[in-house]
Amino acid sequence: MRSPRPVLVVGSGAREHALARVLARTAPVIVAPGNPGMVTQATPFPITISALAPQEIDVDLVIIGPEVPLAEGLADTLRGLSRLVVGPGADGAQLEGSKAFMKELLDEAQIPTAKFGAFTSVAEALVFLETMSPPYVVKTDGLAAGKGVLVTDSFEEAKDDVIDKLMGEAFGKAGRRIVIEEGLIGTECSLLALCDGERVVPLTPAQDFKRLANGDLGPNTGGMGAYTPMPQVTDELVAELVTTTIEPLVRALRARGIDYRGVLYAGLMLTADGPKVLEFNARFGDPEAEVLLPLLQGDLVAWFTSIAEGAVAPTPPAVGASVCVVLAAPGYPEAPRKSMPIAGLGDDGQLLSPIDGVTVFHGGTNRPDPQGPFLVNGGRVLTVSAVAETLKAARALAYEAVAQISFEGMQYRTDIAEDAVKREEQS
Ligand code: AMP
Ligand code: GLY
Repeated sequence: MRSPRPVLVVGSGAREHALARVLARTAPVIVAPGNPGMVTQATPFPITISALAPQEIDVDLVIIGPEVPLAEGLADTLRGLSRLVVGPGADGAQLEGSKAFMKELLDEAQIPTAKFGAFTSVAEALVFLETMSPPYVVKTDGLAAGKGVLVTDSFEEAKDDVIDKLMGEAFGKAGRRIVIEEGLIGTECSLLALCDGERVVPLTPAQDFKRLANGDLGPNTGGMGAYTPMPQVTDELVAELVTTTIEPLVRALRARGIDYRGVLYAGLMLTADGPKVLEFNARFGDPEAEVLLPLLQGDLVAWFTSIAEGAVAPTPPAVGASVCVVLAAPGYPEAPRKSMPIAGLGDDGQLLSPIDGVTVFHGGTNRPDPQGPFLVNGGRVLTVSAVAETLKAARALAYEAVAQISFEGMQYRTDIAEDAVKREEQS
């Protein structure tokens, strides 16, 4: 048999590590730039994404992890070089790159979402804010790594945030236009689907924990943990969510001439008035990928190839349940500190005392001395992910593994999937 061709994953975080690990079951994987925690599953190609010269890497299939290279048109460049790509072109990636663009599309496709206004003028924004009731939601219009969103019951805080975002430099270019929207109350659900330009196939619904601290307190982060499946989201509800949110969006994209091949990530709020879209992202969620991908069985290289070719195959079976816990650096999300050594990991970046079903995905780590310890090198350092038959068992394994790992100032939540386990036991 011919040996399989290598696959390229673009990115360097725990999400890309999770992609590399499932793809490595069937093909060699190169990750650019990757990180040293991935070496047992993939070969890091340590150059920055912006310096990536795709013609130098001899692969057929490329999967782009993060939103920034998508928004910058990396998928277009690669398609121009006849590569098969999972990830939209710059046109489709605007869905995530501009909240105003996304909201226009939702309106056009009549997809239920929060009422909103987009503003560049402080005066106009404040007039609109006056008409809203709490919770107030203020967002930067652009890529802000999940950190440009304020949700608050305080009008004064919302007002200050509007002024800050429009006048200040906190978010650079991303901050000069804002979206103010109706605050939605309910259960959040991340529904990710793969789209081949026309058809979509969903993954299991996942819940992400966005706030830094237990009990959904503290600032918004990129995500501090996740689990899948969600006991209260039945297969029937998933089918309904696909028909009422993701499919109409794909039709609206097509109507604009956009051939979207990649992940459509619907951030949903299940409200008393029915499901509403909070946002769409153009890529796998992080940490959602770290719970969704490990459950998928079979040859995922073939599956991703079918998506990139425009002939999507059905979603591979997802077996079991998964829970992950993010270990973050001290100071995250505002000002993460780096360089502390991490205890509890072996040479392969995995647990020193391995636990069946547990994988440690590396996000912000490095290892300047190949004989030395892994060091903290970013905000979300490690994602400890566990797979088991039930959420309860997966959660127990994940926290058993977390207890093995430590670094100075390590922050993590101890309540990931706690309520879901209760719901699982009731159902
Ligand atoms: P986004 O980056 O738009 O997903 O927002 C980040 C997080 O802020 C979401 O995951 C929600 O937890 C919260 N959020 C965003 N928009 C709203 C809204 N309209 N109502 C309530 N919470 C929201
Ligand atoms: N986990 C949230 C995100 O990836 O946007």
